[in-house]
Amino acid sequence: MKKILTAILALIACANVSAQQVDYNVIPMPKTVSVDSTQSFTLRSGMGLAYDAGNPEAARNAQFLRTWVEEATGIKLQLTPDDKKAAVRMTLAPAKKQKKGVTPTPQQQEAYTITVDNKGIALSATQNIGLFRAAQTLRKALPVAKGLNEIALPFAIIEDQPRFEYRGTMLDCARHYFAIDVIKKFIDVMALHGCNQLHWHLTEDQGWRFEVKALPELAKKGSVRQKTVIGHNTDIYDDQPYGGFYTQADCREIVNYAAERYINIIPEIDLPGHMMGALHVFPNLGCTGGPYEVNPRWGVMREVLCAGNPETMTFLKTVMGELCDVFPSKFIHIGGDECPKDRWKNCPKCQAKAKELGLKDDGKHSVENQLQTWINHEMEKFLSERGRDMIGWDEVLEGGLTDNGIVMSWRGINGGIEAAKQHHRVIMSPTTFCYIDYYQLKDQNRQPQGIGGYLPTSKVYSFEPLVPEALNEDEQKYILGPQVNLWTEYVAYPQHLFYMLLPRLDAISEVQWCRPDQKDFENFKARLPRMKQLYDRMGVTYCRDLE
Ligand code: ACM
Ligand code: ZN
Repeated sequence: MKKILTAILALIACANVSAQQVDYNVIPMPKTVSVDSTQSFTLRSGMGLAYDAGNPEAARNAQFLRTWVEEATGIKLQLTPDDKKAAVRMTLAPAKKQKKGVTPTPQQQEAYTITVDNKGIALSATQNIGLFRAAQTLRKALPVAKGLNEIALPFAIIEDQPRFEYRGTMLDCARHYFAIDVIKKFIDVMALHGCNQLHWHLTEDQGWRFEVKALPELAKKGSVRQKTVIGHNTDIYDDQPYGGFYTQADCREIVNYAAERYINIIPEIDLPGHMMGALHVFPNLGCTGGPYEVNPRWGVMREVLCAGNPETMTFLKTVMGELCDVFPSKFIHIGGDECPKDRWKNCPKCQAKAKELGLKDDGKHSVENQLQTWINHEMEKFLSERGRDMIGWDEVLEGGLTDNGIVMSWRGINGGIEAAKQHHRVIMSPTTFCYIDYYQLKDQNRQPQGIGGYLPTSKVYSFEPLVPEALNEDEQKYILGPQVNLWTEYVAYPQHLFYMLLPRLDAISEVQWCRPDQKDFENFKARLPRMKQLYDRMGVTYCRDLE
């Protein structure tokens, strides 16, 4: 018995030793990691953390790093601005290899280096965003074990920069409303993975969640559905009113919180379909005049905005105007997906509008699809006057693309390929690799109820957004990057939300950051336990099984 106990204690001690080791092979894996494990620098509480004192952004990043080191290890560093001898130094330095007069790419602007030697830990980058990325990598490399007195960091040089400039995650807060604090946590988790775009889906058939001050009834009434269907569109309902919306002050708070973590918020107002929330409040904007209810069921609705009613365009411009006031994002998403044309085909106003515009079926694009393109054009013009670029789901290809529209390819990758061939910018987000509302384990009984499908982490990991078999090098330049989408018809609670997100976000983060020849799923799996320790520390759930 004593022998067994000794063996168990030895095992625990062994586990602690490995848990307390620094490992620079984090997720996403840095571009290059060179380690000299024969030498190390010992980091202790009370040591200094230096940054550029005249730079508030640098001070904020230093504060982040200080908090993260303490959160993971218990070691408390002292902020020591401008101290060149500090153990940890965050320094802005000009790029070594950058040619004069050449603007660095967005990816180069995020590049960073971490050097660990006998002088300590030096984080350097040309821009503060690079220092933030460096701090995240250092944080993930540290052991997660509260109460450490010191940590030995092997000498190392780590160099890194992301592969793609656009590294997105979509969050649907329309099917279910998530509180501001949950969204902030979501942003923290995105930042941990080096994601830089939060596509925020704000309006739906099941609820309108963006406050428009000129239309106070819109969010107040349009955000509330009287009940929600139970299960997969059964005949049973919960009979509970469900609502919630984001005031413009809430949105600004989120925008600022995200910006401090180098994440841009791309708001989406989904139009002209997915509009039952708005139609409930303004039935005159529908082809039939209603009445309409905020939809208590899931799926695609026939009721959409009337394209022929001039009030529709006035409404959309009012909404988009306020959206632009609140969200500084260069990209604004107009949805455009799943807009059935049944009503338009039979609506005198819609047909009159098509006639006025001279739209004719050209064999490739139906009249109604072209009518949707006309709406897209109007939106693109409106946004462009405000210095914004329009993103639409890949249905925006169906009536002919607008001049400068960015395509978000979701029904597979073909829309993205077609758009890139037409020299339009593309975000790759196909259901087959990027829909993280799908189940992640084969056995559905081991997971909370979901929408269906099967998208294991390994499949997300295998995604190659540039599709070299279909696009040449020039066309590949139009692929801005990949994005995972988290729809929430069946995801009502934060615990479920993070369970769906993790570890599939880990997988997409390597697609977003790493070259294909750097990726190795077995190696990735071996690096996940450290991330899970961090999730525990951050208080977020994750799927413990991995397929
Ligand atoms: C979508 O999934 N309807 C874009
Ligand atoms: Zn109509």
